[in-house]
Amino acid sequence: MSNRGILSVFKHHGSYGIVGAVIVAIFIPLLLSMIFVGKKKVKQRGVPVEVGGEAGLAMRNGRSTELVEVPWEGATTMAALFEQSCKKHPQDRFLGTRKLISRDFVTASDGRKFEKLHLGEYQWETYGQIFDRACNFASGLVKLGHDVDTRAAIFSETRAEWFISFQGCFRQNITVVTIYASLGEDALVHSLNETQVSTLICDSMQLKKLAAITSSLKTIKNVIYFADDEPASDSNISRSMGNWTVSSFTEVEKLGKRNPVHPRLPIKKDIAVVMYTSGSTGLPKGVMITHGNIVATAAAVMTVIPKMGSNDVYLAYLPLAHVFELAAESVMLSAGCAIGYGSALTLTDTSNKIKKGTKGDASVLKPTLMAAVPAILDRVRDGVLKKVEEKGGYAPYLEGKSDLCSVVELRYLEIHSDLSISVWGLLLVKGMA
Ligand SMILES: *[C@@H]1O[C@H](CO)[C@@H](O)[C@H](O)[C@H]1NC(C)=O
Ligand SMILES: *[C@@H]1O[C@H](CO)[C@@H](O)[C@H](O)[C@H]1NC(C)=O
Ligand SMILES: *[C@@H]1O[C@H](CO)[C@@H](O)[C@H](O)[C@H]1NC(C)=O
Ligand SMILES: *[C@@H]1O[C@H](CO)[C@@H](O)[C@H](O)[C@H]1NC(C)=O
Repeated sequence: MSNRGILSVFKHHGSYGIVGAVIVAIFIPLLLSMIFVGKKKVKQRGVPVEVGGEAGLAMRNGRSTELVEVPWEGATTMAALFEQSCKKHPQDRFLGTRKLISRDFVTASDGRKFEKLHLGEYQWETYGQIFDRACNFASGLVKLGHDVDTRAAIFSETRAEWFISFQGCFRQNITVVTIYASLGEDALVHSLNETQVSTLICDSMQLKKLAAITSSLKTIKNVIYFADDEPASDSNISRSMGNWTVSSFTEVEKLGKRNPVHPRLPIKKDIAVVMYTSGSTGLPKGVMITHGNIVATAAAVMTVIPKMGSNDVYLAYLPLAHVFELAAESVMLSAGCAIGYGSALTLTDTSNKIKKGTKGDASVLKPTLMAAVPAILDRVRDGVLKKVEEKGGYAPYLEGKSDLCSVVELRYLEIHSDLSISVWGLLLVKGMA
C-alpha cells in the first residue's frame, strides 16, 4: 500500500509542557529522495543492498553497518516484542483513553444534527495490565471456539481495544486482517471472504452496519464487539445476527481470565497482518505483512528518532488499519512510551466533535510525539487561521496568551508562521518565569 503524500512524525522534549519544544519532522518520501540526491553531492547516505526477489534498486541507511531487523535481540516477532516490552516496563503508563462525560447533539441552522462530546481526563493502564488483558483476550478467543488456524479481522476505529485484540491474536499465532473502518460493504464482504475470516472484531457502530449483510458473510462464526459506554443499546444485538456467536470484548476477556490457554507463539516469517486499505481502483487488496516486517520497521524508526522513552507521550488518532499508524504505535511499544487515544474529530479544542468550551485530545494529553498526515495538518491550519482572524491578527499570540490555541495549533504556528519564532520566544519566557 502507499503512504500517500508526506508523513511526518513530530517529537518534542520539554520540561515545561509544550514549552522548550524541539521538533523533528521526518518526511519519509523526502528522506528517501535525499538518500538518492545526497549520494552524488555529499557523503554516501544510502548503501545498495542485495535483497533478492524482484529486480530493482534496494538501499539501506548508510549510518548503520548492517540491516536493522530487530529493536533489540530476541524481539523477532510482534508477540515477543510486546511481551518483552511489557515485562521491561510493567509499572509505566501504556494505553490511555479519555473518559466520556457527556454526549450531546446540537442542531445547526440548516437542521442537521451534530454530535458533541464532553471528554474528561485520560485514564491509564500500565504495560503490565495491558499485557494481562491481551493474554486474557487470547485465551478467551480460543475458549470461544475460534479455530487458531483461521484468521480474525479487526474492523474498528482506532482505540485501545484495537491494539489489545491485535496483540491478543498474536499470542495464539492468529493472523489479523485489518480493514479500514471507512470501507464500504462490498469491500468488507470481499476482504472477509478472501481471507476466510472466522472471527470479526468490531466496534458497536460497525456492528450495527453488519446486521444488513449477515447473509453475505459466510465464513464468520464469531463476532466480538467493543461496547460503548451505553450498555442499553447492546441487549438486542445478538438476536439480529443469525448464526453468529456475538460477544462483547469484556466478556471474551473474562472468559479467558477464567480459562487460561497456553500461548502458541509465531515465528518471524509467519504472517502477522493482512492489511486492506482503500482500493482507489476497485476492490481493496490485502497486503501480507510478516512479524519480521513489523519489528524491522519499528527498529528502523527507532534508529531515526532515538532517545524515546517512558516520559514520552504519543497521541494516537490516525487509523490503525493503516500501516503508518500501526508502525508508529509499534515504535511506541518498543520504546516504552505512553499512548493516549484520540480521534481526528476531537483532536483540538475547536475540533468538530468537541463540545464548545471543553478541551480537545491534544490539550488534555500534551503529547510529546504525534504522527500527522497532510489532511490533518490542513484542518489544524484552518483552525489557526480562523482564530488569528477572529482575534484580529497575531498580536494576542505575541502577548503570550497561550490559552488561545491548543498544543497542536501552537506547534503548527511554529512550523508555518513567520511570526512563530517570536511567539515561541515569548511563551518560553513566560513558561520559565
Ligand atoms: C468468496 O471467495 C470464493 C473463492 O475463495 C469465491 O468463489 C466467491 O465468489 C467469493 N464470494 C464472495 C461473496 O465474494
Ligand atoms: C429488543 O427486541 C424486542 C423484540 O424483538 C423488542 O420488543 C424490544 O423493544 C427491543 N429492545 C430494544 C432496546 O431495542
Ligand atoms: C444458519 O445455519 C444453518 C445451518 O448451518 C443454515 O441453514 C442457515 O441458513 C444459517 N442462517 C443464517 C442466517 O446464516
Ligand atoms: C503460525 O500459523 C501459521 C498459519 O496458520 C502456520 O503456517 C505456522 O506454522 C504457525 N507458526 C508456528 C510457529 O506454529
